[in-house]
Amino acid sequence: MRMLMPDHGMAAEDVLTTLAALKQKDCDWKNGRAPAYAFNPVDEIYELGRSAFLEYFSENALGMHRAFPSVKQLETEVIDMALGLFNGPPGATGFMTTGGTESIIQAVQACRDLFRATRPSSGNRNNIVAPDSVHPAFEKAGRLMDIQVRRVSVGTDFRADPAAIRAAIDEDTIMVVGSAPCFPYGTIDPISEIAAIARERGVWMHVDACVGGYIAPFARMIGRPIPAFDFAIEGVCSLSADLHKFGLCPKPASTVFYRTADHARFHPFEFSGWPSGRFYTTTIVGTRPAGGVAAAWAVFRHLGIAGYKRIAEDLLAHVDAYRAGIAAIPGLKVLGDPHLSIVAFGSDEIDVFRVAEVMAEKGWLPGLLQRPKAIHRMLSRLHMPVMDEYLSDLRAAVQRVRESTPAASRLEAIY
Ligand SMILES: Cc1ncc(COP(=O)(O)O)c(C=O)c1O
Repeated sequence: MRMLMPDHGMAAEDVLTTLAALKQKDCDWKNGRAPAYAFNPVDEIYELGRSAFLEYFSENALGMHRAFPSVKQLETEVIDMALGLFNGPPGATGFMTTGGTESIIQAVQACRDLFRATRPSSGNRNNIVAPDSVHPAFEKAGRLMDIQVRRVSVGTDFRADPAAIRAAIDEDTIMVVGSAPCFPYGTIDPISEIAAIARERGVWMHVDACVGGYIAPFARMIGRPIPAFDFAIEGVCSLSADLHKFGLCPKPASTVFYRTADHARFHPFEFSGWPSGRFYTTTIVGTRPAGGVAAAWAVFRHLGIAGYKRIAEDLLAHVDAYRAGIAAIPGLKVLGDPHLSIVAFGSDEIDVFRVAEVMAEKGWLPGLLQRPKAIHRMLSRLHMPVMDEYLSDLRAAVQRVRESTPAASRLEAIY
């Protein structure tokens, strides 16, 4: 039945009590039970991000060019600090957005419009060539802008296959994509090789570092073997990186960067043909929370490189231990050789979806892959304190599935 607005309101205190009660239905993410979606434990970084967000709770980043110059300053400083992490050459530029999807859609649009402005049209539909593992945000962009997304198979190492990408490019290809890392397998694609192909064919390359952008640079600094993925590689024209994932900033916050002003030329939207005159935005959305901008600035300034390195060190040591713990359970195997904090594992012997069902009974919301069938975890600091408990439940779940009569799992992979 549809809920009707009450004639008379509820006391604020009761409203909040009701909200707290409703939340009881949700996954217990604070205790590491969610496979993704939330990244920060309730600690000093969380509290700082929240306070900075609340400081700018009512300001609107739409108005940063006129009413709220401090928001413009904060965004510019976030972009500048980030460009330093991504080897942005002089002239590189960027913008904050409300999420990875928006960053990707904006990059595709900037790319498409530059393509159309500078190339004669063949009359055919434009296309994007990407490994099968790229995020559906590219499909969303394709649907909005009538661009075909050509997904090509990944290699047996669960990384993009440069030869397959090369073969799929034609004269209507506006963009090739590589992920750093991809969401399903956590592997960083061979960005240098793909970028070399893109340069040779005169095609724009986008790196989707939405997941890895704010952990990979620090992982490299602490000596982890992370392949090059950013503007240090000639041929990388744009890059997306999410602050609200491993940047440890409150949602909504992402960034998108361009190698040159020319690449960024068609990113902003401007329209003057309505009664109110010049309307200018650098996001798809109009009104957007200035809180996300202020909070990202606050977290960057607070953590600095030393803080992010410390967190990367700690998190990646736990990821190593998780991986070792999974590999030590007979019948399970990690897919490929993931580079950062995403781990997916499957089995040649048992149905891992049945293992996921048993884990769900114990309160662990399963993350799943359908191709190949696997359990998926985007490990964050939330998962560190519960590692032993998770691994022990996993071992018991595998044992239970092994001992039970084979039956089809009822689970379906849903993100
Ligand atoms: C690799 C990758 N790209 C893009 C996105 C989209 O980000 P958002 O959910 O912030 O729109 C995600 C989300 O998980 C992702 O994993």
